[in-house]
Formats: sequence, structure tokens, C-alpha cells
Amino acid sequence: MLLLIKNGTVINPGDKTEQKADVLVEDGIIKKIVSGQSVKADRVVDASDCYVMPGFIDMHVHLRDPGMEEKETVETGLKAAVHGGFTTVVAMPNTKPVVDNADVVNYVHNKGKNMGLAHVLQAGAVTKGQRGEALSDIEGMVEAGIPAISEDGKSVMNAQLYREAMTLAMKYDIPVLAHCEDINLVNGGVVNADETTEKMRLKGISNSVEDVIAARDIMLARETGAALHLCHCSTKDSVKMVEMARKEGIRVTAEVCPHHFILTSSDIRENDANYKMNPPLRTKEDVEALREGLKKDIMDVIATDHAPHTAIEKGMGIRRAPFGIVGLETAAALTMTELVDKGYLTVMQMAEKMSYNPAKILGLEKGVVEEGKEADLVVFHPGREYTINPDDFYSRGKNTPFAGKKVKGMVMATIVGGRVVYEK
Ligand code: DOR
Repeated sequence: MLLLIKNGTVINPGDKTEQKADVLVEDGIIKKIVSGQSVKADRVVDASDCYVMPGFIDMHVHLRDPGMEEKETVETGLKAAVHGGFTTVVAMPNTKPVVDNADVVNYVHNKGKNMGLAHVLQAGAVTKGQRGEALSDIEGMVEAGIPAISEDGKSVMNAQLYREAMTLAMKYDIPVLAHCEDINLVNGGVVNADETTEKMRLKGISNSVEDVIAARDIMLARETGAALHLCHCSTKDSVKMVEMARKEGIRVTAEVCPHHFILTSSDIRENDANYKMNPPLRTKEDVEALREGLKKDIMDVIATDHAPHTAIEKGMGIRRAPFGIVGLETAAALTMTELVDKGYLTVMQMAEKMSYNPAKILGLEKGVVEEGKEADLVVFHPGREYTINPDDFYSRGKNTPFAGKKVKGMVMATIVGGRVVYEK
């Protein structure tokens, strides 16, 4: 089977080149990248006016399967992924049961494979049942193929236990994806702690909730030598700390989610829980620091923290609704609109942060558009404008604060292992 992706601008972060070319794919592998030649193929995807980029890799997704299928399933989550241009996703382990042993890892991996949509890689929980008391079967899960460990949704508050986990991560050569949140400092907070939210009479979550654990985890990474990846950074000091740690040679990388580089707590609409996520929307100063951090390549990754919840749950108001918003189907357009179009990032940086860097961090041979490599690709039109409408989402979760927002940038086709799995 020969697939030809024609007339696009090929973005290859592998060697930082951008060129007008056709991409010929045979049996799942990129066979040739050529220009000005006539090539015959079984199927042609027209990429005129589009970028042909390495398929996006989302390091931070909640598929909710097993156990919370009313919010999302592996199938609906992966349909949402390919609709958003993602060809690989890392699923977080805060499911029911928690992914703390090889059986649950195998369950998700098998389900993912059978879908034939995006690749799914299941992250393993750090502690049994995410209870923070004893380590999960990290070795068994490594054998089952986890790309990383993470206690996402919370932090392991026992630093000694976390240090042990980091030592194991170092031994097995996998990164630790860290959700930084000091649960004692949260103290019932639901939104950022600032003047705006005080006026709304909502309990606040201060920046220190994130910063103290980020600092602790960086010190533990220094001590153990483990590769630490800070999830969903939301504060200006997280950017500073990553920069400082890197200068010292500590193995730390960091991600930012679109909602954190776009919205502030002032955008929160009265009692609308689509503005409630963890960490919360911060202040203008934080947003600007995150944007600058991305621009200067201090912050390596754009991830979504795709966190679907039901309409009933999200309808309970800001105080009672669960934390989290969906992101798989809006991330690329939001990045193009808010970062590339506004001059913070080049398209090459977008491809690096949404594909190449996640691949490097996770140790995957992905994130490039090169001959001989697996054809995981996205055809992305940077100029197509539309209005975000949650009814168009394939995800079960419709919980987004971006409904009605005008954006620029549309996924025209997603190709996984040489198969067109989504086409506009
Ligand atoms: O807002 C969030 N929702 N943040 C997290 O860290 C977890 C996630 C969830 O699982 O719903």
C-alpha cells in the first residue's frame, strides 16, 4: 500500500528543516521525501497550504478506562486524539482500579492496539492504589512496557517513598512525570488564590502549593539522578526553577498546558466549573512567564492534561465539581492561534514541543519526519479558521472553557503507522 501526502510543507524537527515536498509512505514507513517528481500511489492526501508535521504526542491524557467509562473510554479518547492530530498519547494511571500492576497496563495496551487509532502508552502509578503508602509493582509494569511512572492527580507526599521510586525509575531508565501539589497547603482551595477569586468568595490555591513540591522533586532528581518531568506547570517560579535546575545539569524537563498559557483567573465565568482545573488558572504574570518559558525553550512540552468529566459532574458549580478540562481536540489550534500566530513560537518549536521533545523524554523513536521512520504524521492547515464547538468533539467530555472561541489552525488528516485514521 502506497500513500502519498502531496504538496505540503514538511516540518522535520529531527534536523530542523522545513521544505516543500511530497511524502511517500509504504507499508507504514516513510519511504521517500521528494519534491518535483511525479509519483504513483494507491491513495493521495492533498496537503496543499498545509504543514506535514510529525504526529503530535500528548504526554498527559486521562482516558478514564478502566472504571470511569461514563467520562471516557480508550476508544472515545483515541478518536478524540486523532481528531486533534495526536498519534501517540500517554494515559495517566488514576483510573479505577489504579494502574499499579502489569495486568491493568496490559488491559489498556491491548484495548488501544485493537482500536487501530493512536498509539497508547500507559503510565504506571508510583504507589499502590495511589494511596502514597507503598510502592506499586514498578518492575512488573516496566516489563509490561510502561514509558514512565506518575502519581498524576496528586503528589506522593512521603518524600522518602518518592525518592525510592525515583531511584527505581533511574534503574529502569524511565522518567518520572510529576504532578506537583502539596495537599496540606491546598486546604480546600478550588481556584487560584488572588484578588479576583477572593471577590468571588472562592477558596484559593496559592502558587506555593505547586512550587514547594516542584522544588522538592528537583532536589530529589539531583540526588537520585532520575529524569524528572514536571507536569502541567502553572506558576512563574516553576519556570525559574526549571531554568536554574537545567543550568546545574539536573535532568529536568517541563510541560505547559494550553489553558495555563492562555487563561487567567479573571477569565473565570461565574460559577462555571469548565474553568476549574488542577493546577488552577493563575495570574497574568504567570501566563506571561509560561509563554516566555516556552519561547526560550525552558519549557519543553505542550501537553493537554485532557481530563474528561460528565456534564452532570461539571454542572455542580465551581465549589463542588471535579477538577479538569478536555484538551485533545483543541490543543493544536490553541497553540497555533495563541503562540505561533502571536510570535511566541515558530512552527518548528510547535512541532518540537508537541512531538519531538515528548518523544525524546519518553525514549520513543518518534517525533520526526524522516525516510525509514514510522509514518506517524499530521497534516495541519495553519490558516483555517473556525469556532470551537464541543458538539464536534469525539471525546465524551465536553468540558472546555474554550467553547465559542475563534481559532486558526485545523487538523486535516492524521496518519498512524501509514494509515489515514482521521481525515477532515
Ligand atoms: O484538573 C485535573 N484533572 N488535574 C489533574 O491533575 C487530574 C485531572 C483529573 O484526573 O481529572
